Amino acid sequence: MAEKKVTDHFVEVRPGGYAMPSGATQVQRRAAGQIRAAAEAGDIRLFGDTVSAHEPIATQSLKPAHQLNDPDTRVYLSDCRDVLAALPDKGQVDLIFADPPFNWDVPYDEWRDGMPRAEYERFTFDWLDGCINALSPRGSLWVNIPDDTAAEIVMHLKRRGLTMINWCIWHFRFGQHRHTSFIMSKVHALYFAKDPVNRIWNPDAVLEQSDRAAIYNDPRTQAKDENKGMRVPMDVWYGKYWGRIQGNNKERRALHHNQIPEVYLERVIRACSNEGDLVLDPFLGSGTTCTVARALNRRSIGIEFGKGNAASAFERINAGPVHLIGDEKTSSAIFEDRRAKPPRKRKSKAPGPA
Ligand SMILES: C[S@@+](CC[C@H](N)C(=O)[O-])C[C@H]1O[C@@H](n2cnc3c(N)ncnc32)[C@H](O)[C@@H]1O
Repeated sequence: MAEKKVTDHFVEVRPGGYAMPSGATQVQRRAAGQIRAAAEAGDIRLFGDTVSAHEPIATQSLKPAHQLNDPDTRVYLSDCRDVLAALPDKGQVDLIFADPPFNWDVPYDEWRDGMPRAEYERFTFDWLDGCINALSPRGSLWVNIPDDTAAEIVMHLKRRGLTMINWCIWHFRFGQHRHTSFIMSKVHALYFAKDPVNRIWNPDAVLEQSDRAAIYNDPRTQAKDENKGMRVPMDVWYGKYWGRIQGNNKERRALHHNQIPEVYLERVIRACSNEGDLVLDPFLGSGTTCTVARALNRRSIGIEFGKGNAASAFERINAGPVHLIGDEKTSSAIFEDRRAKPPRKRKSKAPGPA
């Protein structure tokens, strides 16, 4: 008799493979408190701690450089560490999306993108702390960051008591060729929350077609009571409109570097905020976050150091986005539809040798 696979008793307690057990959130919440306590006791030190913290410039009355109403949209022109310290909306921001300079010597308008490493880490901790103070109790913080600083950001947010919800990857396929190592084709999209249980979270607003539906036509996915054939996206993001913004991409804004695709912000904003909520981007760049937030009827604040960048971002916010997915039933499947197709007519065989 064939041996019966013993899997049943694992189903409840441990789904197996790489699925996260349901108790993991509790474990992470407990760990968040312990890591925070260890940091407060001085037991967790990072390189950037060797540099003293930024002293915010005392800003009496913070005035936006650009502003729109309905929904309230503000662009502040300054160092985000100073603006965050003086922000009237402290503790009320529902969602923060941050795509900082990576310290890669990129010519960003007026910002000098090449600090000694310890200073860059200190800069990073300072703006992260400003964001944490701005965040509402149910708010989320997303950080877009490449390999070389992801670990430090994760450690800093953990030692501040935030919980990681997802470590997503934005995957793109036009990395620059190099022979010395594998080609860079991703950036990390780190998703943290103050309160993992009560955070603002709208999975139904970002559903996409499942592979079961798109490729295999699996009847089980149509048997569900709701959202038939749909699922919450995976944590690796790619697909239509998800490529790097370069060349003749219609979203591309002249003179901006490292512009992020609109669909990336669309997913984050729909999933982690509601209409009327307040969204903030401390490194506005070409304005992607506020442009998408406004189109989705969210209030928003953008902070930008460069005057030219801020003006260009505001122009884009007024113009609106180019590529929102909306309710399009997209699929990120990487295989072709394998549904049974009508059999192809076979060519009649040429008569063989007699
Ligand atoms: C990586 S880009 C952001 C790109 C943006 N996500 C987009 O889609 O266009 C970083 C931006 O942050 C700005 N910046 C750098 N340091 C800053 C600071 N301390 N405060 C505010 N803005 C800053 C730079 O001028 C640049 O425009």
